[in-house]
Amino acid sequence: MFVNESGRRGFMKGLMGTVGSLIALGYAFVAERFMLPPPETSATLQKVGRSSDYITHQAKLAIYTGDGGFPDGVYIVRLAKGLIAYDEHCAHLQCPVQWSHATLTFNCPCHGSVYNVYGKNVAGPAPHPLNYHRIVEHKGEVWIGGIVPWGTPEWTKMAHATGKPSADTGKA
Ligand code: FES
Repeated sequence: MFVNESGRRGFMKGLMGTVGSLIALGYAFVAERFMLPPPETSATLQKVGRSSDYITHQAKLAIYTGDGGFPDGVYIVRLAKGLIAYDEHCAHLQCPVQWSHATLTFNCPCHGSVYNVYGKNVAGPAPHPLNYHRIVEHKGEVWIGGIVPWGTPEWTKMAHATGKPSADTGKA
């Protein structure tokens, strides 16, 4: 078959465009792999009750299964600036902490770490505050999502949104 010069140029242009598109697609795939949040933080939200179920400084334990993994205990507490959700696992060696309404603290039965109502480690060997879970309050309903590990930018943002202890009326 006879192909003239302009036809060959057109074919080469088309070929280069296709190759360029494939390379761009490859970059997009790699970028997506590294830029998207890890699976545990992009998990489905799970309804855990109504807003009225959560009273200031009274932590309630919910079980989170929204990511399809092992069930996770999540303490939900209403603070002056809104709701916050703490992962129940101690920052020391992952024992589940227990809420004490008498002292307004989360206490770890394993080695004695204590966290205040803001999830801050205030005694014992725990090296940092509790991890969070995502939490959304919308139209009178409360939903929780995947874990937000301590030290990540998202955790820091949530900690700032929670407010300072002095802004609250509790003992913590
Ligand atoms: S696991 Fe909680 S203090 Fe050690």
